[in-house]
Amino acid sequence: MANYQVLVLFFAAVIASGTSNTHIFGGRCSRRDPNVDACLLRSFNSLIEYMKGGAPELGIEESEPIVIDELSIALGGGPDGYRATFKDIHATGASNMTITNVRSDLETHQFQLTLFGPHISARARYRSSGVLLLVRASGGGEYWGEYEGVKAKVYFRGEPFERDGRTYLKLQQLKLDFSVKDIQMGVEKLQNSNAVLEAALNLFINTNAQELLKEMKPELKRDLAEKMSRFLDNILQKIPYDDWIVD
Ligand SMILES: *[C@@H]1O[C@H](CO)[C@@H](O)[C@H](O)[C@H]1NC(C)=O
Repeated sequence: MANYQVLVLFFAAVIASGTSNTHIFGGRCSRRDPNVDACLLRSFNSLIEYMKGGAPELGIEESEPIVIDELSIALGGGPDGYRATFKDIHATGASNMTITNVRSDLETHQFQLTLFGPHISARARYRSSGVLLLVRASGGGEYWGEYEGVKAKVYFRGEPFERDGRTYLKLQQLKLDFSVKDIQMGVEKLQNSNAVLEAALNLFINTNAQELLKEMKPELKRDLAEKMSRFLDNILQKIPYDDWIVD
């Protein structure tokens, strides 16, 4: 679930590609290049590679693990509807994500990036309440998830402004979406539970993994988009746009 925090890191990469340290990420891209998107793709990916272990000089910290404070999920309404809250979500594998496609519109400063991550793992504490599968499923325990084939699309738009004779971008809008090809997950070390309930829960969770992700997605997308926006805007303020895109 936490896999998309990944993008925060990734964005650092993308945007930091605008620093003066062009050697870090494989060079600037020309607006007049008919294949400018292919150029951006190469540059962004070499920067991601460079930043894997963190890049203090760019204000980028160590990327693993990615931590999300809290997410919750609700299935069914009413007082007995099942609710689960996940806390201290730690995700690893984000630094292995690569960009597979870039589409840019440099006239209007819009960018759409497609990313792929082969494998992301997450661990969290969880608490649940309500009824699931006709069983009172209140309690807590540990959650684990393994996500294979994570695909993400990130869109953002910036607005240029001048400062000290340089052009920068101010972030105006950011949207993201994602999918996971294969999900395996489960709960363990349940309190107030027994082996039968634990097995039933795990069967349910795995059978409905994609549905559960879908339920969680709006909250996850909101959380990630907000974090990414703050982060991206901060980076954009530091790195001149005319340092990564030239005429
Ligand atoms: C990244 O991928 C490599 C090669 O598959 C793997 O050995 C490594 O554990 C991965 N890193 C993380 C943080 O998952």
